Amino acid sequence: MSKQSRINKYIALCGVCSRRAAEKMIAQGRVSLNGRVLSDEDLSTMVTHDSDVVEVNGNRITPEDEKLYILLNKPRLCVTTVNDPQHRTTVIDVLRRRRKGVTPFKARVYPVGRLDFDTEGALLLTNDGELAHRLAHPRYEVEKVYQALIDGVFSEADSARIAEGVKLEDGHIGRAKARLISKDGAGSVVELSLREGHKHEVKQLLASCGYQTLSLWRVNFANITCEGLKPGEWRNLTEIEIKSLRKLVF
Ligand code: URA
Repeated sequence: MSKQSRINKYIALCGVCSRRAAEKMIAQGRVSLNGRVLSDEDLSTMVTHDSDVVEVNGNRITPEDEKLYILLNKPRLCVTTVNDPQHRTTVIDVLRRRRKGVTPFKARVYPVGRLDFDTEGALLLTNDGELAHRLAHPRYEVEKVYQALIDGVFSEADSARIAEGVKLEDGHIGRAKARLISKDGAGSVVELSLREGHKHEVKQLLASCGYQTLSLWRVNFANITCEGLKPGEWRNLTEIEIKSLRKLVF
């Protein structure tokens, strides 16, 4: 069962202040639960740690030992970093955007691995440093599945070449299971499943067969998909998904 605490205890667990000071903050209208501002009539409200969103002075708070696991359907035209010196939109800006009926995400999380500026799709973000490190490390061979629209029709010979291995710009050998999904005019859609993950690897693998990647999206990361999420939308991972990730790398 999900852990629950009275609102003042929850605020104290988050390291904001004592339980008594928390009651004062609630009475002053500085605390909200799932977007609703609380008052001194709400002092006995219970918070469900896994699902409720508590904000103090407009900032989301979470218990200090609480881990957050988010799946974002990363839109194109944003960078997979927390800060960008060139002031482009980051994935964190996307999480913080206001959406109807959804409290903007305020806590600190970090992306697991990277997707290019123009790549869309499944991106995990978490504050669980050890899990993030392992999921992104080539040693654990976590499966990532991409689909790419290319400017030609992918062949069996291309598939064999990519399965055998291709020398990448950084000197590593990149390989993937790749298959044609559909033809689209003069182009085609190819699905590639990778176990490692080097910079621009999918684009480089396809370029080694003479194709330009016109559009790229990640359909799943470790079997976790963005089904039901439009680009820019996010959700918390389920307990089952978090357990399955841990099982893969611990
Ligand atoms: N490979 C690429 O070329 N780009 C990505 O964003 C991810 C994998």
